[in-house]
Amino acid sequence: MNLEKCKLIDLPIIHEPRGNLSFIEGMRHVPFEIKRVYYLYDVPGGAERGGHAHKGLHQLIIAMSGSFDVILDDGAQRKRFHLNRSYHGLYVCPMIWRELDNFSSGSVCLVLASNLYDESDYYRDYQEYLIGLKHLNS
Ligand code: TYD
Repeated sequence: MNLEKCKLIDLPIIHEPRGNLSFIEGMRHVPFEIKRVYYLYDVPGGAERGGHAHKGLHQLIIAMSGSFDVILDDGAQRKRFHLNRSYHGLYVCPMIWRELDNFSSGSVCLVLASNLYDESDYYRDYQEYLIGLKHLNS
């Protein structure tokens, strides 16, 4: 699992004079079945979210409104993505450390996830995450 597998996905857009519509189907537009949806909102200026990795969870992160940055780290490389379009989703595969910052005022971060919430799926300590990566690669 590495950064090359994480990428921006162009979501379908139905353009109409009365407004645009985008949609996401599990296993079609994202490489996983969608089991959970959560969203971040009312994020105060300067706040940082994330700061963890997931052992088995696949996610798609979308800036539904406003903008923010997602920093992805696979233990070897770090990459910053600026999300500001509701028709772009950032696919994050398992075992990637992520941080979110630079939230614009009023921004909404929508996350589609491949599984239900499970605290035991998290690495919340970067050093423990690196050790987990090492075990996976050995
Ligand atoms: P966390 O995943 O650390 O948020 P972020 O990555 O945005 O900083 O979750 C914050 C808190 O919310 C933590 O106590 C766990 C809880 N939580 C749930 O109960 N269910 C969920 O689906 C999520 C994502 C978090």
